[in-house]
Amino acid sequence: MGTILFGVKGDVKSLSDRLHELNKSIREDVGPLFEELNNEIGMADKVLWDFRTFANPAQLALKPVDLRQVVNDAFQAVHGDCLNDISLPEDPLPVSADPLRLGNALKEIRKNAHEAMLGVTDKPMLTVIAGVTSGKYAQVEITDKGPGLSDDVKQHLFDPYFTTKSGGSGLGLAIARKVISAHDGILEADNSPDGGARFVVRLPLVVL
Ligand SMILES: Nc1ncnc2c1ncn2[C@@H]1O[C@H](COP(=O)(O)OP(=O)(O)OP(=O)(O)O)[C@@H](O)[C@H]1O
Ligand SMILES: [Mg+2]
Repeated sequence: MGTILFGVKGDVKSLSDRLHELNKSIREDVGPLFEELNNEIGMADKVLWDFRTFANPAQLALKPVDLRQVVNDAFQAVHGDCLNDISLPEDPLPVSADPLRLGNALKEIRKNAHEAMLGVTDKPMLTVIAGVTSGKYAQVEITDKGPGLSDDVKQHLFDPYFTTKSGGSGLGLAIARKVISAHDGILEADNSPDGGARFVVRLPLVVL
């Protein structure tokens, strides 16, 4: 009996040692993977949080603003050797807007345009034209000299997480469109006759 018990004890001990070994090797092998996964989950969570809060209409601090000013602030800065050709009307373009959020949406369009022109043309230029359309809307048209939008890109352009860039989040335009919609405006895109991409923002004019 004593011998049998001793044997069982020995088996349990060796099983426990092997389990311990297994546990250790699993932790060594899978540990870094878990950490990586955990980091990825953290990043995805942050992106989702940004997406929800940044584009949340309830968070817009709306006030009467002159769209010319927002356009000027967003496109004035020179980036690398890219030239921004800005045309603004003489009269104010009164809209109800959160200038920071709206400005950021315009900057996403600008950033994409600059990225699209990198290496494609040695004379990168962005044409920005602001004005009034149909008497009810203020309009901003942003045209670049990049390769334009393929049919496939056009279909998914504003989808969250759609990107053709290795480091892109694919949220730039999804957020920009959400922010502009929250202003009761629209953001559309097509190609200019010259081939580059053209983005059009329309916002309701208000009486100041
Ligand atoms: N001006 C443009 N010319 C050509 N393609 C464009 C232009 N703007 C956007 N795109 C295409 O639309 C995709 C989605 O753009 P979006 O701004 O939403 O995300 P992203 O630029 O890829 O990533 P992120 O904004 O995080 O840098 C881009 O990956 C690109 O393929
Ligand atoms: Mg972008």
